[in-house]
Amino acid sequence: MPLVVGTDEEAALRGVERLLRFPGPKGITQEIYTTPVKSAEPLRMLASGFVTGDAGIGHIALTSTRPTQIRSYFNTVFDARLTDYIDETMSGLKVKIRFLRVNERHHTIAVGNARRLPIDPIRTRVQHLNIQAATLDDVAQSYQRVHEMGFGSLTVGQHTNDRELSYYARTPSGFDWEVGWNPIVVDEATWEPSTHQGISIWGHLPVGQTIIDKLAQFGTGARSLARPENAVPALSGTGIADD
Ligand SMILES: [Fe+2]
Repeated sequence: MPLVVGTDEEAALRGVERLLRFPGPKGITQEIYTTPVKSAEPLRMLASGFVTGDAGIGHIALTSTRPTQIRSYFNTVFDARLTDYIDETMSGLKVKIRFLRVNERHHTIAVGNARRLPIDPIRTRVQHLNIQAATLDDVAQSYQRVHEMGFGSLTVGQHTNDRELSYYARTPSGFDWEVGWNPIVVDEATWEPSTHQGISIWGHLPVGQTIIDKLAQFGTGARSLARPENAVPALSGTGIADD
């Protein structure tokens, strides 16, 4: 595996002691670091705080034409375990999502694919990133600010599997940013994977989506047929058995 040691300058820029870099799925470079630089200065921000600690920052969600290889990659590199599955129908496509955990956080990685179709309807390599807000007030107040600025993507809703209450905003790069609150945590000793029907119990409705956006998404899916996806074969093998 091509492993690159980050330079001192790169470490300083990221506020860490040392870092290593190696390839990840969909061309997303992975970096792991030791010893972040900490400051005693309180953060100057509008939110009261984020829930990180031992469970790390929230989660990343990807779409893939090779989901079992991506699952195998995160299992090989980060000892990721299957938490559960969601089956959902989106824009007429049957979609399956795998939720993988590396600690008590319900999931740190989610991998979605269109069932039995080798297409990827998402233009960006990351479909969304999630951070966990400390309080419900932080979610409500940031939702209002984001919507006033016109960056809304999905309204407030609640997910079926981790029960997180959240909304999604659209970043300038085109991927979504999910701000959530109060997801369940996993007890490693007793957890059993299951399959949930549908992504959300309520809410998470598209904000201002037009027929042009929908057509653009079908175009992206069609183009992905001609563009093979790099799943890092050296770290993924032929994939992991997937129910
Ligand atoms: Fe999410």
